[in-house]
Amino acid sequence: MKVGILTGGGDCPGLNAVIRGIVRKGIQEYGFEIAGLRDGWRGALEGPVVSLDIADVRGILPRGGTILGSSRTNPLKQEGGVEQVRENLAAHGVDALVVIGGEDTLGVASELSGQGLRIVGVPKTIDNDVVGTDFTFGFDTAVGIATEAIDRLHTTAESHMRTLVVEVMGRHSGWIALHAGVAGGANVILIPELPFDIHQVCGWVKSRFRTHYAPIVVVAEGAVPKEGELVLKDSSRDEYGHVRLSGVGEWLAREISQRTGTEARTTVLGHVQRGGTPSAFDRWLATRFGLHAIDAVKDGDFGTMTALRGTDVVRVPLDETRGRIKPVNPSLYDEFGVFFG
Ligand code: F6P
Repeated sequence: MKVGILTGGGDCPGLNAVIRGIVRKGIQEYGFEIAGLRDGWRGALEGPVVSLDIADVRGILPRGGTILGSSRTNPLKQEGGVEQVRENLAAHGVDALVVIGGEDTLGVASELSGQGLRIVGVPKTIDNDVVGTDFTFGFDTAVGIATEAIDRLHTTAESHMRTLVVEVMGRHSGWIALHAGVAGGANVILIPELPFDIHQVCGWVKSRFRTHYAPIVVVAEGAVPKEGELVLKDSSRDEYGHVRLSGVGEWLAREISQRTGTEARTTVLGHVQRGGTPSAFDRWLATRFGLHAIDAVKDGDFGTMTALRGTDVVRVPLDETRGRIKPVNPSLYDEFGVFFG
């Protein structure tokens, strides 16, 4: 059997660990041929397909990014895209596909699986917002990077007694903001799930200054003021209909300055959160997902996705992920209310 692998959507640390797990077990234990598709769904639509051997995955475990490349190409947006994928895979002799992606890439996988393609999904994203799994790999690394940044920002904020706003990734969900904000001792954490009140934010900032500490405000890029709109980088949309975010951090610093009469600055962490070597936890989780994904292929259990439930890796229907994201539960957010202000 020839098994194809593709990585789609925004990259994240741990993708190479999944690829390595699939290649090692697929070849060593099951005698499969493994083929890499370049640049996400683009490779499935047009090729080329590269053969992946054990020697090709040596040394990639600690490497960030993806050796296969990625894109936000959406075959469902192209006339005859599904047929083109089917024909291209057949032309390259690919019998089954492991698709490593977030909600968008897996949504396509679910649709194609419904149309008869033999697909197993693996969830990834630094945002941790894929439904059905407790965690995605990439998230732990991103939280570590954001936490270290917050730790560093505390000392400079206090030297100048000014507010420092830290904008982190998180288009639809505030998992990175919440985890890094709590780990880094932020005084305000703002997430997309809960529109924020700018008056309350300024109240928290002022109360922090009253205790002679400088406030750190962590905001997810997708957070929205109660009276206002999502702040966008520009209005262009990708093939999944997403606009480019970023800007809420700058907006907040401006509002805080004007409303409180104190100084504020913004740090946007951006793609630093997605780059570089995966944490030990992400390498561990990604490796397990790779091994379990190739087991599912071997079992002919198509239309499923690997998922972490507690400490177990299980298979869930790919359909479960479709068109849905896993939000931060407001009651979890409320647990940390005591630290705000
Ligand atoms: O999907 C993960 C994510 O990190 C989002 O939080 C962010 O909005 C997006 O990727 C940015 O991706 P890109 O710059 O690659 O378009």
